[in-house]
Amino acid sequence: MSRAKVFITRRLPNIDLARLHQIAEVETWEEKQPPPYSILLDKVKQIDGLLCLLTDAIDKQIIETATSLKVISQMAVGYDNIDVATATARGIPVGNTPGVLTNATADLTWALLMAAARRIVEAEKFVRAGQWQTWEPTLLLGADLNGSTLGIVGFGRIGQAVARRAQGFDMKILYYSRHRKELALERSLGLEYAELSTLLSESDFVTLHASLSAETSHLINDRAFELMKSSAILINTARGGIVDPSALERALKNNQIAGAALDVTDPEPIPLDSPLLKLDNVIITPHIGSASYQTRAKMAQMAVDNLIAGLEAKRLPNCVNYEVYH
Ligand code: DGY
Repeated sequence: MSRAKVFITRRLPNIDLARLHQIAEVETWEEKQPPPYSILLDKVKQIDGLLCLLTDAIDKQIIETATSLKVISQMAVGYDNIDVATATARGIPVGNTPGVLTNATADLTWALLMAAARRIVEAEKFVRAGQWQTWEPTLLLGADLNGSTLGIVGFGRIGQAVARRAQGFDMKILYYSRHRKELALERSLGLEYAELSTLLSESDFVTLHASLSAETSHLINDRAFELMKSSAILINTARGGIVDPSALERALKNNQIAGAALDVTDPEPIPLDSPLLKLDNVIITPHIGSASYQTRAKMAQMAVDNLIAGLEAKRLPNCVNYEVYH
């Protein structure tokens, strides 16, 4: 019997692929940039297993061209780059890597929130530019976390981990999610459920933790910014597409909100001529929410485990379309 063929769309961090090599011929895309769409389309014609990243568009055409594909394994928890409906229709399980990146992403959210509240990036640039002449009572004033209200939009694993971090800062915590959580969880974290409009109008910090879908695309738009406090700060470590970038630019320029800290943008990478990059009240990092050595190694391992399970026709340990097994 011929060995299974696998394509991995980028070199994986810190991972032993010996078990995968025992059962499959593995080709890895070694470039820094993702494989161009035309190359991906060509590669998938021959393969049984695909290990991909959120930068790969695994759309209907790719999936329908991949006639021998048995498994799609994504090294990320989000999978909005994959046409899961087409994969399901073709009986292909799609794997992801939930759980292991929760704390790393919540940590970065917290780092951005604090950096934006206390204007850390501006302050650091100020020092390097030689502008630090004296201690001044009004120099680089920011916002207190203590006593403020944090609004968490989307309350899955990462949203909850962010809520746990807020406990130590004496913040009031509001959350909005499609489904209200059990009272026991609300009580243990000291939370209040709020409709989105209430959360937006009452929060000093609004942090986004929803997945990107038709329902959440541009959820934060002109109307949302109109509701927000002029002193509010928006943090996004989820997906860029949840925020309408033009509305954000208007809100920041017109002082409808005080600032934003974004680890994700729409598009990614953010174009260098984006007006957002000209504003001082925005911090932008390059989608590094899960970027710790330990977390990325765990994500890669989970993705490989899903891939191997799929090649061996076993249930994926972490599958987003379990319907394929019914
Ligand atoms: C994910 O996993 O979806 C993040 O965006 C990258 O770690």
